[in-house]
Amino acid sequence: MKTEEIFQKRLIARHDELRWLYMELYGNSDMFAELCDEMYRFAMERAPEFRSLDSKREKDPGWFRKNDMLGMMLYIDNFAGNLKGVKGKLDYLKACNVNCIHLMPFLESPKGRSDGGYAVADFRKVQPNLGTMKDLVELSKACHKKNINLCMDFVMNHTSEDHEWAKRARSGEGEYMSRYFFYDNPQIPRQYDATVPQVFPTSAPGNFTYLEEMGNYVMTTFYPYQWDLNYKNPRVFNEMMYNFLFLANQGMDIIRIDAVPYIWKELGTQCRNLPQVHTIVRMMRIISEIVCPSVLLLGEVVMEPEKVVPYFGTVEKPECHMLYNVTTMATTWNSLATRDVRLLKKQMDIVNSLPKDYLFLNYLRCHDDIGWGLDFATLKAWGMKEAEHKRYLNQYFSGRYERSESRGELYNDDPITQDARFCGTTASMCGVESALYEKNEEKLSNAIGLDLMLHAYMLTQSGIPMLYSGDEIGQINDYTYRDDPEKREDSRYLHRGKFQWELAEKHKEKGTLQERMFTGLKKLEEIRKSRSVFDSGVATYTYDVKDSAILGIIRENEEERFIALFNFADEDRTAWMEEEGEYSDLITGKKMRLCNIIVPGHGFFWASKKKGIYK
Ligand code: GLC
Repeated sequence: MKTEEIFQKRLIARHDELRWLYMELYGNSDMFAELCDEMYRFAMERAPEFRSLDSKREKDPGWFRKNDMLGMMLYIDNFAGNLKGVKGKLDYLKACNVNCIHLMPFLESPKGRSDGGYAVADFRKVQPNLGTMKDLVELSKACHKKNINLCMDFVMNHTSEDHEWAKRARSGEGEYMSRYFFYDNPQIPRQYDATVPQVFPTSAPGNFTYLEEMGNYVMTTFYPYQWDLNYKNPRVFNEMMYNFLFLANQGMDIIRIDAVPYIWKELGTQCRNLPQVHTIVRMMRIISEIVCPSVLLLGEVVMEPEKVVPYFGTVEKPECHMLYNVTTMATTWNSLATRDVRLLKKQMDIVNSLPKDYLFLNYLRCHDDIGWGLDFATLKAWGMKEAEHKRYLNQYFSGRYERSESRGELYNDDPITQDARFCGTTASMCGVESALYEKNEEKLSNAIGLDLMLHAYMLTQSGIPMLYSGDEIGQINDYTYRDDPEKREDSRYLHRGKFQWELAEKHKEKGTLQERMFTGLKKLEEIRKSRSVFDSGVATYTYDVKDSAILGIIRENEEERFIALFNFADEDRTAWMEEEGEYSDLITGKKMRLCNIIVPGHGFFWASKKKGIYK
């Protein structure tokens, strides 16, 4: 079939729903017609190799749900200087078993006012020190040759104040002012502030910024230099969709929709997760299915579970393909600090009971802080108080308790709500940093063991595991951000250090920290990708082994019964259980019985038993 016919076929199948949603939101048929014309143009412009990927993936819609998927997120400059540098490092990523890389924001963004690249000044231009759009396309092609998928951010909630639209708005052009939220007096901003919580209460308080020269207030939910876009204006929606399609056409496999819950604002509300956000995400899904169906949408929804799940849409009318498993991530760290897995078990039971079509991205750490978004209603019923508990977690991970070897820093320590969040790398939070500092080999072994246990837990979950660059070699916190005036105020840079290639090289030297982490992790990844019991669709449930520090998980399909045990306490504990038959320890290869077995402090077991004809 010709490209044009394929486009028409995809459009016809989805046109009515798209039009319905568009008209419901904007009631503007001319703008809808323009959107369709532009979709056509982007579909025609799409390079042949990406078009053939579209057709291939349309025939295999579950392609990204398999157990071989493993992601890594990285900063281009920290990792390899620029885009060309990343292209030169693909073999290292392959050696890490990674087949999906999330490039942290790399579009043009003003120096010193970039929020780590999340303040975009030009959606169609790469930050010059990182390369060009051509380099990006070349990287994408090189990745595809090695079966690596590429993911990038689409920062749609706001633009940088240096974006063309913002500049023209600042100079008073009404057309552009209407793309943002401007007020010439503080009345409405005050009304918004009364109901809208703050994202950065200490580093960027308030939701508005006063522009002296204009005598106007502009809405800035995040930093003052990130101006919120007004999606009530169909011009904003259309233009942002064209930017989205432009980026998709550079050869992206996954587009991460940044801060998506915030994109629609209504006075008198919290301006988060409003129904119109879902209409927009559903439209984005339809638009991408028409123009670039090989592209997946990853929603960044850092909210409580009942707010996250709706971003999958329904099975018939899906929105995002994937979402971050954010509550599970935060609850994992909570289990470590409390040596108590009950809340994590409850959280896993919720996730495991969701339709298998819903795919989560599992992670331990990312470029952001850890917000303590736990199930406080349950914790309250268990006698814990929210503020005190958050304080405990922050102090625990800051290493202020005798039994904590963790190192890191607070983030946005709000003196009013006392709602600080936490920063640090996985290795530092597991005790690698303090062990190295003390030159204590025993502590280092414990820290590596804990780090691997947490990774094993992450890899046991259904969905796509996403590593944070540096974690594979146990990279620790980088305190040099404190000397950089542009980064000093934002402690998230603590875990955004340069990738240490000279240390990474040591992964080839037996017995080094890097080698123990790298080989330990690699072994787990290889077990995961070689066994279909790790497929995201497989039945998974928690297993009560009668000890509040041990989390038991069962994954089971026709072929095998897989049991994982994770001890979140630092002393040995017993998993009280009685399993029939002989299991294999997947790490050591030894045969074992699962009867009241002792799990070492911060240790784990991955055990499996073949079933029926597969024995
Ligand atoms: C997302 C990003 C975060 C950024 C924010 C504003 O939450 O992960 O790093 O600060 O969006 O764009």
